[in-house]
Amino acid sequence: MFQTIPFNTPSILFGMDTMHQLGKQAKKLGAGRTLLVTGPNVKEAGILDRALSSLKAESVDVEVNIQGRDTPEPATSVVEDTAEVARKGKFEVIIGLGGGSILDVAKMASALVTNPGKTKDYFGPEKVPHRGKPTIIIPTTSGTGAEVTQHAIFLDREVNVKKAVASSALLPNVAIIDPMLTVSCPPRVTASAGIDAYIHAAEPFLSKNANPITDALALHAVSMITRWLGPAFADGNNLEARYYMAMGSLMAGMVLSNSGTSLVHAMAYPVGGEYHTSHGITLSALLLGCFEGILMAKQEKMILLAKAMGEPVDGLAPREAALRALDAIRHLLQSVDLPVSLRDLDITDKTKIPRWAIEAHKEQRLLSRSPRVLSVKDIERIYERAF
Ligand SMILES: [Fe+2]
Repeated sequence: MFQTIPFNTPSILFGMDTMHQLGKQAKKLGAGRTLLVTGPNVKEAGILDRALSSLKAESVDVEVNIQGRDTPEPATSVVEDTAEVARKGKFEVIIGLGGGSILDVAKMASALVTNPGKTKDYFGPEKVPHRGKPTIIIPTTSGTGAEVTQHAIFLDREVNVKKAVASSALLPNVAIIDPMLTVSCPPRVTASAGIDAYIHAAEPFLSKNANPITDALALHAVSMITRWLGPAFADGNNLEARYYMAMGSLMAGMVLSNSGTSLVHAMAYPVGGEYHTSHGITLSALLLGCFEGILMAKQEKMILLAKAMGEPVDGLAPREAALRALDAIRHLLQSVDLPVSLRDLDITDKTKIPRWAIEAHKEQRLLSRSPRVLSVKDIERIYERAF
């Protein structure tokens, strides 16, 4: 079978201390007035000062916008406020420096400078008609992949559900991935962001949207993350672990952006929206239930996943070999103190399941990629399994 494969990525600069080149990259984009969107943690960790010195060395005229501490996924009003700052200041380049939420705000605020209306007008696939102001996106965690994706996720406060703007116009111009910036990331964030990255590789790999390019990236990312998440969690100063986690996360982000996530993300949105649990933690609690639910539809690929995670599967019956992937995932989650069920998050109220299942089922942009066709009832059963 012949496939047509679109593959999009920003210009990427990966490596230790690459943030020193921020000023030069901004200049290349023609930086006149530049807005740097970041968060309080980045300032406290001293990372902001390093960014500013690189910009000043190239005489870039920069203004800093420090976001408040919001829920793990920012509300749409935060984006609108930031876009207002960007419009009024007539900024020509927008830099996002921080965790996934900050990066999503920077990407979407840039788009709202050149497109009318509000964030909620653009929820869904390919609704943003024009590219925004040029963006440079610099992650300080290894996980979200936001530096290379065409998505941004926000909390729709009207219905308390996380929703995605998924438009190619949101693809950043430049992604700078400097593993040194992740050294100050605390263990729990390292773990939750790291498992988000794992899922960005594994979930598209098992989906209907998989292709040979993203599969190659996905399997390599899965191996790297399985090998290095534990060491990065155990000792944040382990630079080798930080380096390979950043690379695994970058590759997973490219898989996410080009093949797309599916069931685990769709089912996490209503739970995260309701309990304000962080993205990676919510995914972690649902992961085993979801992968059990699609196991029979993708047995061969589940075996490849098990192999990539280092499981010895030769000589096993196919079903048994596929189940080894679930064993390896459970072990990975538990080794970095991540939840393997909703109960581990103290979420025990099963009466919410029917409503969550209806909300998750509405995410057809994601569910259409699932290898198993899922009804609302099927999704309810997977939520049950995740308790
Ligand atoms: Fe994610």
